[in-house]
Amino acid sequence: MTIAPSESNFRRSVAVRKPLLSIRNLHTHLFLERGVVKAVDGVNLDVGEGETLGIVGESGSGKTMTSLSILRLQPKANGRIVDGSIVLDGTDLTKLSEEEIARDWRGSKIAMVSQDPLTSLNPVFTVRDQVGAPFRYHGLAKGRAMVRKAVETVLGRVRIPSPAKRLDDYPHQFSGGMRQRVVTAMAIACSPRLLIADEPTSALDVTIQVQMMELFREIQRDTGIAIILITHDLGVAAGICDRIAVMYAGRIVEIGDVHEIFKNPAHPYTKGLLNSIPHLGQRRRRLDTIPGLPPSLIDPPKGCRFAARCPARMERCEEYPPDFDVAPGHSAACWLAEGKA
Ligand SMILES: Nc1ncnc2c1ncn2[C@@H]1O[C@H](COP(=O)(O)OP(=O)(O)O)[C@@H](O)[C@H]1O
Ligand SMILES: [Mg+2]
Repeated sequence: MTIAPSESNFRRSVAVRKPLLSIRNLHTHLFLERGVVKAVDGVNLDVGEGETLGIVGESGSGKTMTSLSILRLQPKANGRIVDGSIVLDGTDLTKLSEEEIARDWRGSKIAMVSQDPLTSLNPVFTVRDQVGAPFRYHGLAKGRAMVRKAVETVLGRVRIPSPAKRLDDYPHQFSGGMRQRVVTAMAIACSPRLLIADEPTSALDVTIQVQMMELFREIQRDTGIAIILITHDLGVAAGICDRIAVMYAGRIVEIGDVHEIFKNPAHPYTKGLLNSIPHLGQRRRRLDTIPGLPPSLIDPPKGCRFAARCPARMERCEEYPPDFDVAPGHSAACWLAEGKA
């Protein structure tokens, strides 16, 4: 597993990029009987064309709900975007009808590889049927022969060996890693501009994880797609991301170039995550080096949400810190970062 950013992603990260996605002041709430879960509580994010942005943080910090909000797939029954904007290519997605999102955006311009890839495949349909579905739905291929050819091409793009021979196989005939490639093929079938990968490798062993990250990088090189990679593992993010956003309790607490985050972390939470990265040859550990648990998102503390677990806690932390600039493009919501730029 890569545990530090490589030179190649440093070179990519310093290039100036045109913004593709801009999220401003996003609030997504889940209305439960016991209260309102503020799962996303004021998130600001930009993703450039062809860039890979990592969103990292412990379980429950709002990473999945942020990405579902982009696709307007927050839980139907009780989830709602209550404030903010999500602008992709000049269109505010929060303002569109469900019909418009489904027809023109979801799957075609923005695609997602979900947290649980194995359940995104239906065991009773062949790979050809399932990978062919987005082509048919968005009208990009018609008729048996054309869909077959399109599926074969996209299976080749995710480096499935001898794709023509695998078309009529069922998901259970593929290994875990190959099934994840099939899921990725479905996601990139319609050449989206943005791919959201939510913990795409958590269920896979380390060798396969590394291969999947290499595949994402190859797809990006081939197609220029922008990627949001969601992971609880900073080590995974380091190997592929240009920039990293650290999320805690519904908010982004630090964001910056991958090298800045690794060499010059400003938020004590980021430092805690960095300390919990397993080293090469060592068995993977859980994020157990930060004692305590994140606060409830029903009634989060008014001040810094990390304060209760923070080794550098001060009196001032009772007031929520603004985002302080640490370096160009690098900011942190921590009083310790004040005046650092
Ligand atoms: N379907 C749901 N119903 C109620 N609460 C949920 C649901 N999904 C997520 N949550 C809550 O929303 C918050 C954010 O969750 P999530 O976005 O899944 O975090 P992450 O992906 O970072 O692990 C958590 O407090 C979680 O408990
Ligand atoms: Mg999640």
